[in-house]
Amino acid sequence: MEHIISAGQFTKDNIERIFEATDEIRSVSQHNPRDLAQRHLGKVVATLFYEPSTRTRLSFESAAQRIGAGVISTENAGEYSSTIKGETLEDSIRTVASYADAIVLRHPSDDSSERAVQVSEVPVINAGAGKGEHPTQALLDLYTIKDTKGRTHDLDIVIGGDLRHGRTARSLAQLAALYSGNRITFVSTPELQIGADIRRYLDAHDTPYFEADELAPSFNNVDVIYWTRLQKERLQDPSLASHFAIGPNELELLGKDTMIMHPLPRNDEISPAIDTDPRAKYFDQVKNGLYIRMALLDMLLRKQHS
Ligand code: NCD
Repeated sequence: MEHIISAGQFTKDNIERIFEATDEIRSVSQHNPRDLAQRHLGKVVATLFYEPSTRTRLSFESAAQRIGAGVISTENAGEYSSTIKGETLEDSIRTVASYADAIVLRHPSDDSSERAVQVSEVPVINAGAGKGEHPTQALLDLYTIKDTKGRTHDLDIVIGGDLRHGRTARSLAQLAALYSGNRITFVSTPELQIGADIRRYLDAHDTPYFEADELAPSFNNVDVIYWTRLQKERLQDPSLASHFAIGPNELELLGKDTMIMHPLPRNDEISPAIDTDPRAKYFDQVKNGLYIRMALLDMLLRKQHS
């Protein structure tokens, strides 16, 4: 693992190692945080964000600092970096790679991390590439599933919302396809369906999937509901809507062990009225994101020492 670009790059073995490292770092972090604070002294992580972020950027920055690395950051690189003067992504990456030991990149182009690794001398982590992928989100999502359900296989998973533009849904579907017995139901309107590339990926991995444009029937016996927001900033047709919302009424239809997930930020597709229901796991995802990112940075920065 040199760079983290796509959920499609991981094997089950990789993921097992990442989850073991995450378990360990989560435990040390909760009981003895000072033990971690010396690990990567003198190293620097750069967060280069060309799109807005709350959780991803701040969790990576918190993760880096908790394992002893310093952080340099541009949170609005499109406006406050030399991009505004016409600099290419490639030149910016080359430059930042001279100052940092790893680059965490969020960018509106689907192929931004592939472009970045071509020119970067240090590991690049895709922290959200356009409507393409968000692999570290998928890892924290799968970790949360494992933490809650005790397994990552033989799961009935509903993934819904704006699947055409939602990179987290696309990355999670790829990870779910690695494990036997998983079945995915995609719930969206016809305009917002999951891309053909992901369907091909699922076919190639023998993962059964179904498509639905109604919410309630997909709720029978489901283990995981993964909901996403309408990606308004990526819509060409601003009148498109996703219509699907989960609130107290929908909750009534769910089994007692169904977990409800969302990468956040949410709009009105998940009502805050269900936040206190034990099945709502989106704030667990937030917490696990920190530990997954600590583990990933730790692994990448260690590799650089050796
Ligand atoms: C997501 C993203 O940026 O892709 N947020 C996140 O990283 N947790 C989801 C979104 O913006 O809808």
